Order: sequence, then structure tokens, then C-alpha cells
Amino acid sequence: MTKSATKDGTTRYAQKFAGRAANGHFREAHRLVLSSIGIGTYLGQPDTRTDEGYAAAVAAAVESGINVIDAAINYRFQRSERSIGAAIQQLAAKGLAREEFVICTKGGYLTPDGSMPADPNEYFFREYIQPGVFTAKDIAAGSHCMTPKFLKNQLGRSLKNLGVECVDIYYLHNPESQLSEVSKEDFLNRVREAFTFLESAVEAEEIQYYGMATWNGFRQDARARDAMQLGEMVQIAQEIAGGLHHFRFVQLPFNLGMTEALTLGNQSLKGRDRTIMEAASELDITLIASASLLQGQVARNLPGFVAEALGLENDAERALQFVRSSPGITTALVGMSRVEHVKANARLLRVAPATVDEFTKLFSRGEGA
Ligand SMILES: NC(=O)c1ccc[n+]([C@@H]2O[C@H](COP(=O)([O-])OP(=O)(O)OC[C@H]3O[C@@H](n4cnc5c(N)ncnc54)[C@H](OP(=O)(O)O)[C@@H]3O)[C@@H](O)[C@H]2O)c1
Repeated sequence: MTKSATKDGTTRYAQKFAGRAANGHFREAHRLVLSSIGIGTYLGQPDTRTDEGYAAAVAAAVESGINVIDAAINYRFQRSERSIGAAIQQLAAKGLAREEFVICTKGGYLTPDGSMPADPNEYFFREYIQPGVFTAKDIAAGSHCMTPKFLKNQLGRSLKNLGVECVDIYYLHNPESQLSEVSKEDFLNRVREAFTFLESAVEAEEIQYYGMATWNGFRQDARARDAMQLGEMVQIAQEIAGGLHHFRFVQLPFNLGMTEALTLGNQSLKGRDRTIMEAASELDITLIASASLLQGQVARNLPGFVAEALGLENDAERALQFVRSSPGITTALVGMSRVEHVKANARLLRVAPATVDEFTKLFSRGEGA
């Protein structure tokens, strides 16, 4: 039985929606076919009601034409990964094969298991320090670690939580948070060690690709202390594994209120300033947008020119349409713990991404407003 998403499986998945999904909804990246909308599982309480909500929402999403599922081990104290695991079991019972959908998760943040322990220090000591998974000096900013030993431990836990043998995209979670206290040189050494481990996890078929899921790292001025250069990251991957390296995905926030990925030339490539979208395209890295609705804030009360440029029925659709239509974004992740939001957002499947004209109109009107 296949352990991961495959080109054949994801292509077959897309073909099932022929006639229901508009041209441009499914996109190919690194031998996988990904939907232009993905389901995220970050927000919400660590409780049973939210667990059940996410499990139902993930199953409904995959049944509706959304085949990218995003988690992180620390989301809701590992409960979001477990909710996805429950959804995968429901989907398998309905005949959906593992190779049809793309499972993504992240490691880097220390997290408790299921709920906040009465004494967190005692928990982390017993669970991690005593068995030698990390030492105090491996931890940055009080909560972040990306040593090979820790990542190996976290990946093992994620595979178990998700109930899968292989994660399709494994991200280092907000690696730039280390730069608040680690020098650039030390940081790049830590990235090198992490990538070396991640290449070995590809070899062991526990992950298919790896990447970086970031918040500020690729979104601000190049001189900021926690700014990163994509070219440097790719060079490290190439030094470890050559041209066939598996560092192929970057996640970053992109939405109507955070447009830097498209507009800010903060990347330097071959001596020229580039946006992260341009740099990613040149370096063969696929961009996945997070927080597509700015955590719900751009799902309503948008200025009138957005409706004039993009049409559609409501602001949530317009906000999501903006992200999935942006050049350089392959999948727009939306957090959905409710099936009603999956149904609402899946209506966009029938709509082709905005044309360059519609997109340009949005920007020219936006500047004048
Ligand atoms: N640094 C990182 O790695 C990072 C950071 C942030 C996010 N992410 C990823 O990106 C995903 C998306 O970001 P996010 O969840 O933070 O924020 P988001 O997608 O911008 O917004 C999610 C919120 O919007 C609501 N929503 C969804 N569809 C809606 C609709 N049609 N109308 C009105 N409200 C709607 C959701 O409600 P319900 O939950 O009630 O359905 C939820 O409260 C995350 O889940 C996570 O997987 C990664």
C-alpha cells in the first residue's frame, strides 16, 4: 500500500472533480497535484468539541475537492494532528486512498500532550531532558528547538498522531524565531544540521519533502534581525543533497492585509532584489499561503473596490480568491474547524482564479482608495 501522496493518486483525485472544479483549481508542484485551497488546523481550544469539529471539517474538505491538509505538532497541544488522524480513518473507510491527499505538519515548538500539565517544567524534564532529547542550551526563545534529535522525536510523534507512515511536507516551524537570540552564523549551522536530518528522513521514507513555515522570516525588510534569505537556505540544501534536494516548500502569511510576499523586494538573488514570490519561482520552491483570511479579519467589511475588482458573493470569498489567484501562491490555507466554513469556501472550486486584469485592477484601485 502506498504510504504518501503520489502524482498518480493526486491526479486521480483532481480528475474526480472534473466538471465540478474550475480550471486552475488544481496545480502541480513537485510531482503532486495540490488544490488551490487547503485546510489549516491552528486556531481553537484544546477540547473535544473542537477535536470533533476539525475531524469533520477535514473529512468534508477532502470530500469537497480540498486535498491539502496542514497541521503542526503544537497546534492545540497535538490535538489537531490527532483530529486529522481521525479524519483520515473516516476517509479510508469511504475508500479515499492515502495517495490522493497531501499531509503537511511542522516541528520546532515545544508542546505538551493534549492539555497543559499542572507543572510544565516537570513535564518537559521528564519527557525530554531526562531521556536526552534536548538540553537547556538547545532551546531558543524559551520554546523553540530544531536540533536533529528533537526533530526526530517530534516527527515520530507526529506520524503517530496522524496515523500515517509518511508526512508529505514537513516544515521547520517558524525557524526565524531562533534569530532573536542566536547569531546568524549559528543559525545557519542549525539550519544545516536540521536539513541534514530532514534529508535522512526523506531517505527513510518518513517524509516526502521538507520546508520552512514562517511568520516574519520572509515577510519583512532584509535588514531585520530575524529576516532570512531564501537563496541561502536553498544553497544549504544543495550543499547537503545536490540539485535533487527535498527542500521544496515555504509557507508564509499572505492575505489582503499582509501582501509583502508579492510587493516587498527583500530577497537578494544573483545581486538583484527580488520578492519572495520571484525568488521562490527562480529557486523551484513552492509557496503555500497561511492565514489567508488574516485569522478571520478580512472575511468581512472589505472596501468596495475589492468587490468591484473580484466580483463574487461575499468578502470571505473575495479574500480567499485574492490569495489563491496570486502569482506564486500554489495553495491558500484557511483554518476551518466548522463544516459550514468548508462548504462556504469550497464554493470557490467552481470559480477560476482571478485573471491578471482583475488582479491588476485590485491593486490600482487599492492605491487610489
Ligand atoms: N507560522 C506558521 O506556520 C503559520 C501561522 C499561521 C497559520 N498557519 C497555517 O495557516 C492556516 C490558516 O491560518 P489561520 O487558521 O491562522 O487563519 P485564517 O485561515 O486566516 O482564518 C481562520 C479563521 O477564519 C474562519 N473562517 C474560515 N472560513 C470562513 C468563512 N468562509 N467565513 C468566515 N470565517 C471563516 C475560521 O473559523 P472556524 O475555525 O470557526 O471554521 C477561523 O476562525 C492555519 O490553520 C495553519 O495551518 C501557519
